[in-house]
Amino acid sequence: MDITFSLNGNPVSLTDVSPTITLLDWLREERHLTGTKEGCNEGDCGACTVMISDADGSRALNGCILFLPQVNGKHVTTVEGLAAPDGALHPAQTAMIDHHGSQCGFCTPGFVVSMATAHLNGSADHDTQLAGNLCRCTGYAPIIRAAEAITDQPVPDHLLFLASNTEAPQPAQTLPLDSTLVQPRSADALATWYAANPDATLIAGATDVGLWVTKQFRDLGKVAFLNQCSDLRGITETDHEIRIGAMTTLSDLETAIAPHHPSFAAMIRRYASVQVRNAATIGGNIANGSPIGDGPPALIALGATLHLRQGDRRRALVIEDYFIDYGKQDRSPGEFVEAITLPKQPDTLRCYKLSKRFDQDISAVCACLSITRDGDTIAAARLAYGGMAGIPKRASTAEAALIGKAFTEATIRESMGAMVQDFQPLSDMRASAGYRLQTAQNMLLRYLHDAQGTATNVLEVAP
Ligand SMILES: Cc1cc2nc3c(=O)[nH]c(=O)nc-3n(C[C@H](O)[C@H](O)[C@H](O)COP(=O)(O)OP(=O)(O)OC[C@H]3O[C@@H](n4cnc5c(N)ncnc54)[C@H](O)[C@@H]3O)c2cc1C
Ligand code: FES
Ligand code: FES
Repeated sequence: MDITFSLNGNPVSLTDVSPTITLLDWLREERHLTGTKEGCNEGDCGACTVMISDADGSRALNGCILFLPQVNGKHVTTVEGLAAPDGALHPAQTAMIDHHGSQCGFCTPGFVVSMATAHLNGSADHDTQLAGNLCRCTGYAPIIRAAEAITDQPVPDHLLFLASNTEAPQPAQTLPLDSTLVQPRSADALATWYAANPDATLIAGATDVGLWVTKQFRDLGKVAFLNQCSDLRGITETDHEIRIGAMTTLSDLETAIAPHHPSFAAMIRRYASVQVRNAATIGGNIANGSPIGDGPPALIALGATLHLRQGDRRRALVIEDYFIDYGKQDRSPGEFVEAITLPKQPDTLRCYKLSKRFDQDISAVCACLSITRDGDTIAAARLAYGGMAGIPKRASTAEAALIGKAFTEATIRESMGAMVQDFQPLSDMRASAGYRLQTAQNMLLRYLHDAQGTATNVLEVAP
């Protein structure tokens, strides 16, 4: 496939690009731009952070799980492109020196690119912006001080064009049905091609598929990149529902869902890191069928509908019915996720993610709970859990134990007991079966305390 993009302000045109070469490998091996480092090669450390800009703005992404075709039509800025043409360092670089933010220096380019991207976007929530960058030797206090020091400084002139949402030129592209590597520009074009090539691999944000290549060395066969299907991206609202396009990133979902369901947004804040959330899509998070994905339990608790498409045929199903069994979903060859819709509803949702680290960690247990009351009586309950079975699943026995009862600790404890019949969780490196069950039960008790106004979030509990 042929692609064009700009690299540190210079146009690049490439022909016959492999679908599975990562931006990181291309930068280092083909362009010898070795400032962008390889640490983990799986999206966990941020050493490979690059800034990607297009009409939607600029964002930090992990170059190690970003395939080269995904930067088609974008601006790519690496650490080498941060200093001005006259050699003047970017404020983030100067601040890291002044505040002693670097020792061995391996992580430093990644930190600096994350800082420069946050600075360009006017984001001053440094703990969040830098949570995807790991440092083994310096310690984070000097790095955070460096980030704080540049907050009020102007964006350097040579990077200002990235703040004005410019788009790099794109080659005209046709979509022959027998092509084995495509980057469709619309859901219609994707639907036609995928129906004719049902054995192909779809690549959305590549935060799962990237690892199939970098860690498992898989050959992906036929490939369709979905990142230019702009009609699959974005969130629209009517009086009754919220429609989320499959290609909506977790970052965009976090912003859009916050006014409706703040607890869901707060959980998304704990989903991986800024770099991963900027790439990962909600469609990919559902389609992969993972029992420990954070999106599905929240969507199940909200009564979401999944919209699937195969060629011109569309169907909708209640999202929990999509997950049939471990590794088995209700999706036919050539069928893809087009969107998710949520009924608008009063917010009774609370999401609790249990993982060993606050940031950048997969859930051991994820509970998304919604209890609707009619006066003091429980009228409806949707208790959806991740990490408790081979699929994201509702605790239906525990739900039944709540309906029609008073919303009291006695009722909640009865329901907690009933939950034993809903789940037989696994023991693995994240948690034992017994710990999973006990914490899942306790999260229901936490819901009651939350509803009664008792602070249960460790970030909110005053000393
Ligand atoms: C460092 C790191 C941390 C992570 N942390 C978390 C976390 O905290 N919580 C969590 O839930 N996940 C986490 N993940 C997993 C991953 O980010 C999510 O599963 C993500 O949402 C996948 O979306 P994607 O767009 O990147 O999908 P991709 O990797 O592009 O695709 C994933 C799968 O879905 C298919 N697919 C994608 N889009 C569609 C579509 N529209 N229709 C049909 N099939 C489709 C692909 O073919 C593939 O099989 C993490 C991953 C990494 C690398
Ligand atoms: S090398 Fe670790 S996130 Fe890319
Ligand atoms: S300075 Fe050595 S890893 Fe950060």
